[in-house]
Amino acid sequence: MLEIQNLNKSFGPFKALNNLSLTVNDGELFGFVGANGAGKTTTMKICVGLERADSGSVIIDGTSVLSSNKTMSMRGKVGYVPDFFGVYADLTTSEYLHFFAGAYNIWGKAADTLTDNLLELVNLSDKASMQVDSLSRGMKQKLCLARALVQNPNILFLDEPASGLDPKARHELKEILKNLSAMGKTIIISSHILPELIEMCSSIGIISHGEMKFNGSVEDALALSSGGECIEVTFAGDPGRALALIRECPFVKNAEATINGITLTASGNDTEYAALLKKLVVNDIPVATFTKKHENVEDVFLNIMEGGIANA
Ligand SMILES: Nc1ncnc2c1ncn2[C@@H]1O[C@H](COP(=O)(O)OP(=O)(O)OP(=O)(O)O)[C@@H](O)[C@H]1O
Ligand SMILES: [Mg+2]
Repeated sequence: MLEIQNLNKSFGPFKALNNLSLTVNDGELFGFVGANGAGKTTTMKICVGLERADSGSVIIDGTSVLSSNKTMSMRGKVGYVPDFFGVYADLTTSEYLHFFAGAYNIWGKAADTLTDNLLELVNLSDKASMQVDSLSRGMKQKLCLARALVQNPNILFLDEPASGLDPKARHELKEILKNLSAMGKTIIISSHILPELIEMCSSIGIISHGEMKFNGSVEDALALSSGGECIEVTFAGDPGRALALIRECPFVKNAEATINGITLTASGNDTEYAALLKKLVVNDIPVATFTKKHENVEDVFLNIMEGGIANA
């Protein structure tokens, strides 16, 4: 479990992190969302011991990682893939992983087996003897992920791992992360590609100007934002009095005619929605579809980031 409490970090007069608190449970795939400069990389660097916090605490599996005598012993528990990776030239993919295995005191047959397994996990087995600097960007990114797994960490911090990847490579990365999650690893992944995070992550944190705006499940974030559910009704013909009938319902907060039909936001339960649908049908309204929808995901997050929505 990762617990970040009241983290503060300034660069000169600029406050990059402001009392940032955040919890990620074991085995969770956690999406860390925020605009450029929000503080994602700074937070991750502090968690992995590459940046010092001014105050606050980072606790991983009950141990504070910020106290200097614990930082080294925690390194084996934590894997990190930075947003900017330098890979050493003049090494093959296999030699590169052997090098890092050696850094964790894994040698000989054990290092060979580990390297083979990791290359297989990230689908790079056929590139084992290729020079690292001649790998494509996506391949280098996967190699960095393999490198971060050398010490078999419980918790992985991945800073924008999908950036610059084509759709096929993104899909592959997503599958690898799902596999790692199924293996019980806790994964914190930052990204700007919000719909992808939503699809993949079990929970999310939204950061803006160094402050957490939201920490919880994806469903909670979406519900918080719309202040209810969004339902789209389409019609096989003239909707007639549909809009007026819908607006009569006490649980309907807002209903508007759109190019597709009628979109409404409501805070009813399924029984009430069924009654509304029946009311339309018995009034001879030609309802074609009646569907719960999520708001546009990008809009939801922008709204939360800009402070339009209160913290949960
Ligand atoms: N070493 C540094 N010196 C001065 N300012 C810094 C330093 N590192 C980060 N900052 C500032 O702290 C803020 C947060 O930066 P950070 O890299 O954490 O943002 P981010 O959320 O990762 O952004 P991005 O999405 O662009 O990667 C930015 O305003 C940045 O300029
Ligand atoms: Mg960053």
